[in-house]
Amino acid sequence: MSEQPATCLASNMPLVRSGRALFGAPTLLGGQAAKAGLSCASCHINGRNNPHFLLAGVSEAPGTADVTNSFFSAARGNGQFDPVVIPDLAMPGKVSRDPDTRALEAFVRNLIVEEFGGREPTPAMLDVLAAYVRAMRTCPAGQSVERRLGDQLAAIDDGIAAAQMMIDRADPEGAALSIAAMRHQLGLIAERYTGAGLARERQALLAASRALQAIGDGDPARIGPALVRWKREFDKGLAKRLRRAESRSLYDEKRLAESLR
Ligand code: HEC
Repeated sequence: MSEQPATCLASNMPLVRSGRALFGAPTLLGGQAAKAGLSCASCHINGRNNPHFLLAGVSEAPGTADVTNSFFSAARGNGQFDPVVIPDLAMPGKVSRDPDTRALEAFVRNLIVEEFGGREPTPAMLDVLAAYVRAMRTCPAGQSVERRLGDQLAAIDDGIAAAQMMIDRADPEGAALSIAAMRHQLGLIAERYTGAGLARERQALLAASRALQAIGDGDPARIGPALVRWKREFDKGLAKRLRRAESRSLYDEKRLAESLR
């Protein structure tokens, strides 16, 4: 819980960052997976694997999953329990990454709709997800990095980039998913800001999340400017406060270890 696999991206362009945002959004998968808070990133942390992934009825040994399990999708469940090791997406796999064949887009679409029982992804969603998967690389410096508040703050930046891209592509569903992705990241921060001493930060996180929801539910023509305003305020206010309090949160390895005793 204090470490994670490291990924170095071949490109940091908005397309790739938008894909990273949606990769972490549970509502992309829909159905049982979304209810359990699972996103692509739950199994493929930073696009790599997750040696600790263990879900009753889905995994056998830690780090395995049966993605043709009827737990996720009544349509696709093959009635057999056949978990396999979760692959590291930064390594070449059985699905071609060649953009010309679009095999990756087809695979990801199938995964979302058939295997997880999610809603049909829009072309823009598939484009950004595939761009992100294609950009994944291992890191020369090491395979593991610490988990920090900065991960969630960067993911919120990604969410803003994704929302902007979806608005530009006239994809309201994609914009809504991007906002949901940001709200999920605020929730992940709140999970680590535990205890009475951080109650005000938790309250402010909840308020920031509700403000995002209100923006998403509001006038579609104003979502873009409203998000820019939200982000400016967030960076000036809450993000700074969270940074100051990070050492008192469960992002701090010692505090995390103590809380698990
Ligand atoms: C419950 C865990 C789980 C979740 C959630 C999940 N995956 Fe996977 N993923 C797997 C497993 C297991 C395989 C290997 C399947 C196989 O070999 O048949 C896999 C395979 C893949 C592959 C093919 C890798 C190759 O061999 O080339 C891609 C790409 C991929 N996943 C992307 C995604 C994306 C994008 C999402 C979210 C939409 C996602 N995965 C969600 C477990 C998961």
